[in-house]
Amino acid sequence: MIAQGKIGVFDSGFGGLTVLRSIVEELPDYSYVYFGDNARAPYGNKSFDLIYDYALEGMNFLFNQGCELVIFACNTASAKALRTIQQRDLPRIAPKKRVLGVIRPSTEEIASYTQSGNVGIFGTEGTVNSASYLLELAKISPLLSVYQHACPLWVPLIEERQYESAAGRMIIATDVEQLFNKNAKIDTVLLACTHYPIIKSILEELIGDRAKIIEQGPLVAVKLKEYLMRHSEMESRLVRGTKIDFFTSERSDYFNQHATDIYGAPITAEHIQLS
Ligand code: DGL
Repeated sequence: MIAQGKIGVFDSGFGGLTVLRSIVEELPDYSYVYFGDNARAPYGNKSFDLIYDYALEGMNFLFNQGCELVIFACNTASAKALRTIQQRDLPRIAPKKRVLGVIRPSTEEIASYTQSGNVGIFGTEGTVNSASYLLELAKISPLLSVYQHACPLWVPLIEERQYESAAGRMIIATDVEQLFNKNAKIDTVLLACTHYPIIKSILEELIGDRAKIIEQGPLVAVKLKEYLMRHSEMESRLVRGTKIDFFTSERSDYFNQHATDIYGAPITAEHIQLS
């Protein structure tokens, strides 16, 4: 049988491009399909039911595009929908296909970055309120002290390209100080939303030498490589091809311009309408 499977990457909008970029760098020989649900972003402040519906639709769309493996490159979807989809829906819809999230791979190495043992986490309201990072880190690195801060305006600022504005910078600066007010000894900050690396240079300026900023993309990419080495039954179904197809639920001209800036290479996406 000729392998035809692709790897799907799903996000609420532009954020997953930061993960896709790292995955393609680490695993350049596969074919990928990216879907950004920009028209319905932000997900961060939406209900469990809505995010579950959107994530399931995104996954099904990517399966229909020929993906054997889908990465939820969205913390909010990983926190709120992944487990239900893996346990309840996947065995029924496509028992041989797989869906993986970004939370577990992002927590496994975090202890190796901190010296003070105090780790800060920036995330969406949905991710922070789900306590997924707290629960995961309590299992993996129980000695760490973890401080979360929800930044509900960051994804809208990024999706609307307003983060460079004076108001945008003020909002970001206020959130940064609110995290460090929880504990000035925080020396490692995890960007637990795939949109946030897009404003990394602003965060670096604001955080200075107080803490190291950790992005998820490289962590997720290495863990995916390890996953494929462990799961030859999945790896053997993936086509070699280095092709990437992009889809967005927004207007494609709007998506293409910003996505090209973020991804660092020309992107031409196709618009699709989900329900
Ligand atoms: N990139 C998504 C995440 O990692 C953003 C969620 C949103 O749309 O608010 O959580």
